[in-house]
Amino acid sequence: MKTDRAKVTASFQKYAEHYNLSDVKVKLKYDHTFRVAQNAERIAKSLSLSPDDIDLAWLLGMLHDIGRFEQVRRYGTFQDKSSVNHAALSADILFHDDLIRSFCEDSSEDRLIEKSIRLHNVYRLPSLPDREYLFCTILRDADKVDILRVNCETPRTEIYDLPEEAFRTSAVTPAVYEDIMNERNVDRTNSTTGIDFILGHISFVYGLVWPESLRMVREQGFLEQLLSFQSDNPDTRQKMDLIREKIHSFIDRRIGSDRKNHIPGAEKGYFETSEQMHHHFDHDHFAVENGITIDSFGKKTAVCSVHLTDHHRNAMGRVMGGVVFTLADYVFAIAASSVHVPTVTQQVSVSFLTSPKGDHLTARADCVRDGRTSAVYNVDVFDGSGNLTAKLLITGAKI
Ligand SMILES: [Fe+2]
Repeated sequence: MKTDRAKVTASFQKYAEHYNLSDVKVKLKYDHTFRVAQNAERIAKSLSLSPDDIDLAWLLGMLHDIGRFEQVRRYGTFQDKSSVNHAALSADILFHDDLIRSFCEDSSEDRLIEKSIRLHNVYRLPSLPDREYLFCTILRDADKVDILRVNCETPRTEIYDLPEEAFRTSAVTPAVYEDIMNERNVDRTNSTTGIDFILGHISFVYGLVWPESLRMVREQGFLEQLLSFQSDNPDTRQKMDLIREKIHSFIDRRIGSDRKNHIPGAEKGYFETSEQMHHHFDHDHFAVENGITIDSFGKKTAVCSVHLTDHHRNAMGRVMGGVVFTLADYVFAIAASSVHVPTVTQQVSVSFLTSPKGDHLTARADCVRDGRTSAVYNVDVFDGSGNLTAKLLITGAKI
């Protein structure tokens, strides 16, 4: 699809003029829009997309928050919780009212545009076809990179309606600390103190999918500004030192791994984020439809589990050996994929040790040997009572 950027910009300005641009809140979203469009364009270029697709990424940035103007006019707030889901509102305004045609006459990318906008603020993306995943993640990254800026430029006392003192003296909630040290987006429902909110913003980096987004974050320096927060609370100060180290090593690893991908023969299966990993393995229908979930994964290791139902049992009411095997095969695939994709199971030795008890199984895979063309993993399967119920040695071929 061809995008006429001048027309898009003019239409956006015309739309925004219906709102009070002298209101700081409205102006904030107006400026945010242009910056997100620029960020999206830069990410798209870094991925060597076609000129039309680079324009499309830019267009998504221009349209993604169009509902913000109406949100603030109707409710006087940007808090979705107390007003309306602004991403859904943006998509509704564009497509239900056919406003989209004032930005682009061609309707061939309507579905992709609507989906990307509707999903730009969800906690986790659903399973999507590759092209939709690509544009959704470009837009989400572009938005997150700029949100870091907004969170630094707007006084935190205003964002959270808390006095500065509350930030300086507060302690880190253990669940929040655990999330951030385990490279997880902070679960906001656990955030209660001032410092928790700052850490919530910092943890945005874990959700960034594309290496170019991390480069932008590094260049802009806003993350560094948040990380350099000086607490008066000795315990928080100590934790912030460890968090700073953690975030730096995460970014180094991510951008570093990107460079490694360009060395012929070097590791080529490494997923940059858990989102990419989940997206890939959501297509593993047999495992997914049997209720197997990925609990955690790292380099050359993974943990998966399954909640057992009648569906998993044989005529004697016992857990089918095939369930244990599928779980083990799947956890092996996740662990091996941190190094090379695709790696296929070639040879397996399995010992069923006990009949599983309890209502779930957990399997852990660990690399025993990682060669040039093959890899060997040990997989232990535990039942709901914590008993080792099966042990497998799986050899995979890197194809
Ligand atoms: Fe948004």
